[in-house]
Amino acid sequence: MKKIRVMSIFGTRPEAIKMAPLVKELERREAIESLCCVTAQHRQMLDSVLDIFRITPDFDLNIMEPGQTLSTITTKCLLGLEKVFQEAKPHLVLVHGDTTTAFSAALAAFYGQIKVGHVEAGLRTYDKYSPFPEEMNRTLVGDLCDLHFSPTAANRDNLRREGITKGVFLTGNTVIDAMSTTVRPNFCFPTRILNDLDYEGKTVIAVTCHRRENYGEPMKNIMTALRRLVETYPQAELVYPVHLSPVVREAAGKYLAGHERIHLIDPIDVEEMHNLMARCSFVMTDSGGLQEEAPALGKPVLVLRRETERPEAVAAGTVKLAGTGEEDIFALGAQLITDKTFYDSMAHAVNPYGDGHACERIADAVAYAFGLRDRAPEEFRA
Ligand code: UD1
Ligand code: UDP
Repeated sequence: MKKIRVMSIFGTRPEAIKMAPLVKELERREAIESLCCVTAQHRQMLDSVLDIFRITPDFDLNIMEPGQTLSTITTKCLLGLEKVFQEAKPHLVLVHGDTTTAFSAALAAFYGQIKVGHVEAGLRTYDKYSPFPEEMNRTLVGDLCDLHFSPTAANRDNLRREGITKGVFLTGNTVIDAMSTTVRPNFCFPTRILNDLDYEGKTVIAVTCHRRENYGEPMKNIMTALRRLVETYPQAELVYPVHLSPVVREAAGKYLAGHERIHLIDPIDVEEMHNLMARCSFVMTDSGGLQEEAPALGKPVLVLRRETERPEAVAAGTVKLAGTGEEDIFALGAQLITDKTFYDSMAHAVNPYGDGHACERIADAVAYAFGLRDRAPEEFRA
């Protein structure tokens, strides 16, 4: 039997976390020859995920450079992938989400007249510059793709409104599949401070903040509000694994360093991150992935952005948009720390993003699209 050669391409930490369970699922399928290519838009943060999920890429473009620009990422990906496609000749390329790796890989595949599938398709804010450049990246990927794997019905409906109706599958988000292997009640953290924290007696707040559109004034406001929360409430204990971006590290050092209850640590591996979220009191973040993971763990989330392309958990009541103003962030954080009724109203586990079977549906949809299966997979229902 002739196999379909499917190449999964990713480059950053969140893409790797969400593509890892799919790579594993594709490897299990007899009808599929699974190839994995990393651009290494991220190096250390990518390798940490590859280690945890035991994935050895077939191709590694190794493009990362300190302080890289969007143009250098794009051009290095395009040139590198052209060669990879010539050598590997995939029938289908899979990209994920909204990074510049995803956009460049979809474009490179289009130039090579290779079919492209988009995992996590149809998320939108309809604000070109927020998130930047992700909103444009994912919109352009949508135009370039042949297959679209939408996590939620709202994501699929966004595509419909844009006239994209063919090759769309409602699958759930693969991040929920990934979490089934990482979260464990008896988990022992390799990072010592995470074992030493008093999760029962203190209000442990897990923080991440890295988005490009938050660079500058918004990041200053966010970090000033975080520091004020810790200074105002002695029970508050903040854990912030700081992204390796030099811009983020400089801001965190400037506004948050030097307080005994603010723990600025290096990025932690994904098992540690998921288990930290499972044990903390609540999450404050501008990350996309954390907005999906924390609700599944029953943890309230304050989103440190002006908008979100993930409105499902806001509607379910577990996520609130705090914005990027110091006062609003401080006020909502303070309410979660001091008002138990308010906290309890947000702290219930919901799973609007997936049921842990997204990867099976995506692999089935690929088989269906290539005529190896006679029906489309059942749709994900929240
Ligand atoms: C990228 C994505 C963003 C995603 C984020 C996840 C784009 C344009 N942005 O943003 O959508 O939310 O990843 O984290 O695709 N660095 C290291 N080691 C690493 C990773 C990064 O040193 O392992 C440093 C490098 O100096 C690098 C810088 O961080 O130049 C920024 O990385 P980059 O991928 O350009 O941007 P992110 O902000 O990480
Ligand atoms: N994450 C991690 N270690 C960290 C911080 C985050 O493993 O120190 C995980 C997190 O659980 C989520 C993903 O990285 O799965 C989110 O990545 P990031 O916030 O960098 O990107 P975004 O989701 O905003 O694109």
